[in-house]
Amino acid sequence: MATVELKHITKSFGDNTVLREFSQTFQDGEFITLLGPSGCGKTTMLRIIAGFEKPTTGELYIDGQLVSGGKTFVPPEKRGIGMVFQSYAVWPHMNVFNNVAYPLTLKKTPKAEIQKQVERVLQIVHLTQYAKRLPNQLSGGQQQRVALARALVAAPGLLLLDEPLSNLDAKLRESMRFEIKEIQKQLGITVVYVTHDQTEAMAMSDRIFLINRGVVQQSGTPEEIYNHPVNQFVADFLGKVDFFKGEVKDGSIVFPQMGGQALPYDGPRTGKVEVAVRPENIQFDPEGPLQGVLEAQYYLGDVDDCRVRVGETLVRVITGGYAYKTLKEGDRVRLSVRDQMVFDDDGMLDEKLQIQT
Ligand SMILES: Nc1ncnc2c1ncn2[C@@H]1O[C@H](COP(=O)(O)OP(=O)(O)O)[C@@H](O)[C@H]1O
Ligand SMILES: [Mg+2]
Repeated sequence: MATVELKHITKSFGDNTVLREFSQTFQDGEFITLLGPSGCGKTTMLRIIAGFEKPTTGELYIDGQLVSGGKTFVPPEKRGIGMVFQSYAVWPHMNVFNNVAYPLTLKKTPKAEIQKQVERVLQIVHLTQYAKRLPNQLSGGQQQRVALARALVAAPGLLLLDEPLSNLDAKLRESMRFEIKEIQKQLGITVVYVTHDQTEAMAMSDRIFLINRGVVQQSGTPEEIYNHPVNQFVADFLGKVDFFKGEVKDGSIVFPQMGGQALPYDGPRTGKVEVAVRPENIQFDPEGPLQGVLEAQYYLGDVDDCRVRVGETLVRVITGGYAYKTLKEGDRVRLSVRDQMVFDDDGMLDEKLQIQT
């Protein structure tokens, strides 16, 4: 197990600042995900933790020991970290056993010890019976597990994973998520996982750090940031969401583009607002406050994906099989809305959270 402490880490390449004032602590045994759009600085952060990149300013501690900062710089091989990157390179000419043994062979570990450790990790990643195979005799998922086993063989307290599943097909990606999570729980190691895939982040993480343009927008459990996003960027990045412009008036929010229809509101905001609603939180409800016409419905098996015209606005509704069986296009319907998120009407990001570039 290992803690990771980042203190005021900033990283610039020339005059391009890609990480700004990153100050966070990852606890022993936590599954941490750095989530954000491409180019937001996730890989750079991971490379700083690994020791492949020096931060421009700030300090980094692993297990309470300064590894980067001031005049101190501990090289990657001395940091006790396991790593798997997106383009996981397994040696094509080495069988599974030798691939996994490689880091121990480099360290000149005694043969008997290598045997024991490799068998241990092959068991963990369910590859025991493939030890003698060459990588080209394995599926993509199995090759990825070889890379994972190799990262785990030296028993690191900290494992860094950079988009390790992005080269796998959708089904395999889903099952590997649970495998990685199981391995992490079983070994009790700290994992820092990088992905741009919000579903992956939601499924695996104890805590997510959602990053935009080098700044953490919000951190918290998946449930916290999904249901209580601090700004519109977060709401939009995690899950499906639609934004509607409205204005707070006498205990309701009035939507001009919905023909002046309104939702009840007793929150703190006043004046013009932006209301974010997840389509699964809008329901067909004969008593609902909004009225519209069902324009389209798409049957997706587990859910129906519907479009309802409310005034000039097309509202997306994702609902259980109910609608498909009972409603048809052109029907007049009423909608109720739950868990709406009300933001100030100030563009995509709260001003204070934006990087000035
Ligand atoms: N070695 C480098 N030299 C110059 N710019 C870099 C270097 N590495 C990354 N960058 C820049 O830093 C930014 C963040 O990159 P990266 O950390 O790879 O993002 P992510 O992993 O979130 O997609 C990008 O604008 C990228 O071009
Ligand atoms: Mg990256």
